[in-house]
Amino acid sequence: MKTLTITRPDDWHTHVRNGAILQTVLPHTAAQFARAIIMPNLKPPVTTVAHALAYREEILQAVPTGANFTPLMTLYLTAATTVETIKAAAECEHVYAFKLYPAGATTNSDAGVADVTTIYPLLAAMEKYELPLLLHGEVTDESCDIFDRERVFIDRHLTAITRDFPDLRVVLEHVTTREAVQFVEAAGANVAATITPQHLLFNRNAMLAGGIRPHYYCLPILKRETHRQALIKAATSGSAKFFLGTDSAPHITHTKENACGCAGCYSAFGALELYAEAFEQADALDKLEGFASFYGADFYRLPRNTDTVTLQKSPWTVPAVYGEITPLKAGENLSWKLISA
Ligand code: DOR
Ligand code: ZN
Repeated sequence: MKTLTITRPDDWHTHVRNGAILQTVLPHTAAQFARAIIMPNLKPPVTTVAHALAYREEILQAVPTGANFTPLMTLYLTAATTVETIKAAAECEHVYAFKLYPAGATTNSDAGVADVTTIYPLLAAMEKYELPLLLHGEVTDESCDIFDRERVFIDRHLTAITRDFPDLRVVLEHVTTREAVQFVEAAGANVAATITPQHLLFNRNAMLAGGIRPHYYCLPILKRETHRQALIKAATSGSAKFFLGTDSAPHITHTKENACGCAGCYSAFGALELYAEAFEQADALDKLEGFASFYGADFYRLPRNTDTVTLQKSPWTVPAVYGEITPLKAGENLSWKLISA
């Protein structure tokens, strides 16, 4: 039986929520990954070091016995964030980055930043204290077509941010377009991107052709096939600028199967298997380890993991639900299975 053993990976962008959902999803993340960058878009958002530390404790309580998992906390930028908060975050060993949600861009982003230029003093502080900026890179104005929002964010905001803060480390999260890939490739080594499994595996037809499929709805939204091809090329290129970030975003099933359904794909249950599927389709399984286990750690200036995980080529069917959450590819087959971690 075909197997693939790689250095244990990390997830550089995930949502584990809190309360009951956390209990369902955290064991999945902890079974696959040594570390994960934890998104701060709770209700209320994680805006202070004290909140991040309390949330970290809640996450650690949910780690199954025997698992070795470290949550890497982030703080949510708002108009009320101060330079003192940036300094406090830099001094806290458990906080690794700040997340910028344009106000209204996605789930729990109401408290986000309405005008990026108003937080320039904060970006300057992050550059000074060497804390990465994690970007949800989409504009939010009604007049901008939803399929163009990432491209327009790059033109309108990201180009200026990277020009004005040349030493700020920036992660353009969950890139979905050829333009984003080109921007990141052309930028300095301080600019990188994460790529989700759903954006590598599916184009927008999966969500909209032959019926509307809410479990494929996430933000940034799935794009057309030419963009998916650009993402595959970037992820399998061996470039250290592109690394794994699932953006696993669990929602209770009825909130997605709804007249106004929530954005987010739940992928943590089989993240590595989903990526392996995409890399194998591109005949690039040899590039999975760098993408999943090396480049993100290097970017965050953390040591690479030293233990390994093994995948086996043995088809299995994704369950219909995990608790109250419908996973990505529910009821469908995956060809790889994680057998030891
Ligand atoms: O699809 C998404 N879901 N995109 C995001 O940016 C947020 C996430 C969530 O928190 O549900
Ligand atoms: Zn996210």
